[in-house]
Amino acid sequence: MLASLRQIQNPVLRTVTGASAAFAIATIVSGAVVGLVNIRDKARLSVYASLLGTGGGVLVGLVAAGRVSTQAPIAQPTTASTTWQDWRNFVVVRKVKESEEITSFYLKPEDNGEIPSFQPGQFLTIKLDIPGQAKPIIRTYSLSDYPEPCEYYRLSIKREPAPQGLDVPPGIASNFMHDRIHEGSIVPAKPPKGKFVLDLNKSLPVVLISNGVGITPMLSMVKACGRLNPNRPIWFLHGARDGRFHAFRDEVLAIAPQNLNLHVHFCYSRPRVEDEGHYHGIGYVDAALVKSLVRQEAEYFLCGSPAFMESLMAGLQESGVASSSILFESFGKPMKATSEKQLPTASGDEEVAAAEIVFAKSGKTLTWHETEGTILEFAEANDLDPAYSCRAGICGTCQCKIQAGEVTYQEAPTAEIDEGAVLICISKPKTARVVLDL
Ligand SMILES: Cc1cc2nc3c(=O)[nH]c(=O)nc-3n(C[C@H](O)[C@H](O)[C@H](O)COP(=O)(O)OP(=O)(O)OC[C@H]3O[C@@H](n4cnc5c(N)ncnc54)[C@H](O)[C@@H]3O)c2cc1C
Ligand code: FES
Repeated sequence: MLASLRQIQNPVLRTVTGASAAFAIATIVSGAVVGLVNIRDKARLSVYASLLGTGGGVLVGLVAAGRVSTQAPIAQPTTASTTWQDWRNFVVVRKVKESEEITSFYLKPEDNGEIPSFQPGQFLTIKLDIPGQAKPIIRTYSLSDYPEPCEYYRLSIKREPAPQGLDVPPGIASNFMHDRIHEGSIVPAKPPKGKFVLDLNKSLPVVLISNGVGITPMLSMVKACGRLNPNRPIWFLHGARDGRFHAFRDEVLAIAPQNLNLHVHFCYSRPRVEDEGHYHGIGYVDAALVKSLVRQEAEYFLCGSPAFMESLMAGLQESGVASSSILFESFGKPMKATSEKQLPTASGDEEVAAAEIVFAKSGKTLTWHETEGTILEFAEANDLDPAYSCRAGICGTCQCKIQAGEVTYQEAPTAEIDEGAVLICISKPKTARVVLDL
């Protein structure tokens, strides 16, 4: 009965139908029982029967509406902090070209030990020794598969060209991975982390929306959910230019037949003749399309180019979706949600015009002026070499303990920040003296 109820798109109609059906069943059963017992117990039994019918109706209604999960809670995999803390060497055991731009790397630990599972949507931080670079290059990549048992991690990396019209080098790490990392290469990695994760215990419908390489966290989410919470309705909406740039098409389509609650929609902005039959719509994935496909309350996950996410975020909010129901991951500069998060030091946005920064480990005390940028930029300009990756408050690589003083954030960080630590890539001094463990 629940399966049939879930086919009803309108949540109110679904709830009422579920409740009515359960009430009717309870009433018929109790009517039969009342007819069979002696007269003195009939009144009491009638009251119990009504209560049973109403309770059953409410419960079935809630389940049908997707508010209450019908299955045992799923243990959400934890991060790997108990398994390894810092860098661990991984061997590339497989390298697969997925599209014109994206190549996947399958990683297994060099020590042949176990690797922990992760929360769908999390990323891995890797470190690359690249010839010509003064220090190792650190980058973060979403885990793009959800193997069970977890015997490997897969990263799927887009080759970053130089932006058109700019005389700058192409992406350092992504091009190195594509050109110089092969099966057998060693890549050090830190444990999986990240807060852009799908809660496998929820039953509210979920809509995964991506374009380009933003598909990577959605892959682990759709696979984990399809396997561990198959009753949860999922929409998988993805935009690509054409078939040449559409990675993982067959992989996603292969999941669909085993999961009747998965709805897949691919949009090509400039399809070629030979792409006919491989996409569902022409154009971009936008809020109007999303609303026409998902006609019920849902939770939304966005990952893709900044313009794509900004337009979807605005469109979804205009169409009435609460900003708390929209989660996003940015691979570059973080997007600003309309309901901006509270900044960690937000007692007014004031920052000082100049400050003394003590870099305790390096033994340097320097005077910073507000024109000198973030603490990371200031440190680099003064020959310090802090670790960083996204430079946008997303990955947590630049996290550093603060021993005295306070910083102010230019934008809301999205990375997890340990107690007593700060992200130096997006912060400036807030007090006249700041002491950092750097
Ligand atoms: C949480 C998270 C998850 C991610 N997941 C993925 C994933 O699954 N797959 C994936 O492919 N990526 C992912 N990324 C992005 C990834 O971490 C890298 O940022 C990306 O690969 C680019 O790194 P790069 O070293 O190749 O480019 P960089 O060397 O960092 O350069 C980036 C761009 O800047 C340009 N550039 C270089 N110099 C200049 C200059 N002076 N002025 C202007 N532009 C310049 C380059 O040409 C390039 O286009 C993720 C990022 C985050 C934060
Ligand atoms: S470098 Fe990624 S959070 Fe600072």
